[in-house]
Amino acid sequence: MAVRKEDAKVRAFHVVTPLLESTALTQAAGARVLLKLENVQPSGSFKIRGIGYFCQEMAQKGCKHLVCSSGGNAGLAAAYAARKLGVPATIVLPRTSSPQVVERLRDEGAHVELIGKVWDDASLKAQELAKREGWVNVHPFDHPLIWQGHASLVRELKAALDPHKPGSIILSVGGGGLLAGVVAGMKEVGWLDVPILAMETKGAHCFNAALLAGEPIPLPDITSVAKCLGAKTVAARALECTRECHIISEVVDDRDAVEAVERFLEDERMLVEPACGAALAAIYSGLVRRLQEEGRLGSTPGVVVVIVCGGSGINMADLQAMKAQLGMG
Ligand SMILES: Cc1ncc(COP(=O)(O)O)c(C=O)c1O
Repeated sequence: MAVRKEDAKVRAFHVVTPLLESTALTQAAGARVLLKLENVQPSGSFKIRGIGYFCQEMAQKGCKHLVCSSGGNAGLAAAYAARKLGVPATIVLPRTSSPQVVERLRDEGAHVELIGKVWDDASLKAQELAKREGWVNVHPFDHPLIWQGHASLVRELKAALDPHKPGSIILSVGGGGLLAGVVAGMKEVGWLDVPILAMETKGAHCFNAALLAGEPIPLPDITSVAKCLGAKTVAARALECTRECHIISEVVDDRDAVEAVERFLEDERMLVEPACGAALAAIYSGLVRRLQEEGRLGSTPGVVVVIVCGGSGINMADLQAMKAQLGMG
């Protein structure tokens, strides 16, 4: 296989992640489930793929300061990449962000600013800061270089599964960067016929709302506990992707996402954010089983690949607090 520029970089910041079969999820789905473990990336999520690539490109062009607005994980990826590149970083977060994430960002050497209630507020501030000479705004999800970086995930899947294709791919959607990157990768490896199940939580469902409206529209507010899915408006590119391949958009309740986080912890001994729980809930809630029975996941059931997108903004106390908040005992 030809070595691509972004994979061949001596110091690409992401790692090739494991693709593990899960017995528990296979039982729940009624089909073989493989987990693409993006939670083991440096900085704790898939975000390092696209953001690492974007930051490298900007550093090569002489950027003096990186600024990133983020519900947490994009900021962690930007701070990590900035430290590796020796470029200073400012991360702008909404005030609702978890204190551990703020501490981790500071440990990465980033300057942290807390602004507003949701990501959109922080984004305005980041755009303002990026007007300074030599500063570059790292968009957490809406940039072609970010999608190009995320596409490496699909090339890894292709290398692991060749000559087979997955029957379906399950992922979470926040602002739609992961979705756009996966579609870019699928285009590259010739997998555009593989259905994608795009999962969101109610109250952070900007992709689903855009599909219903036929255009990206802002949600009135972000009310889901899956804060890092909380872009009010999805990237236009995510909507465009629905015209290029088969994307099924589904929305689960916060309770389903949090229950999936807990079951995944018990089944696989890994703690992930509810943002990732949304993707896992597609299996645990019985949705995938139903879609398979209805024939909506394609004619050949095949292997179900779940992108375990990860997330660093959670610990056991947070999980208990979320369960209490949602009346889950
Ligand atoms: C852990 C995690 N999963 C999924 C997402 C959604 O990614 P995107 O905004 O690219 O759709 C995010 C976004 O921050 C995230 O942090």
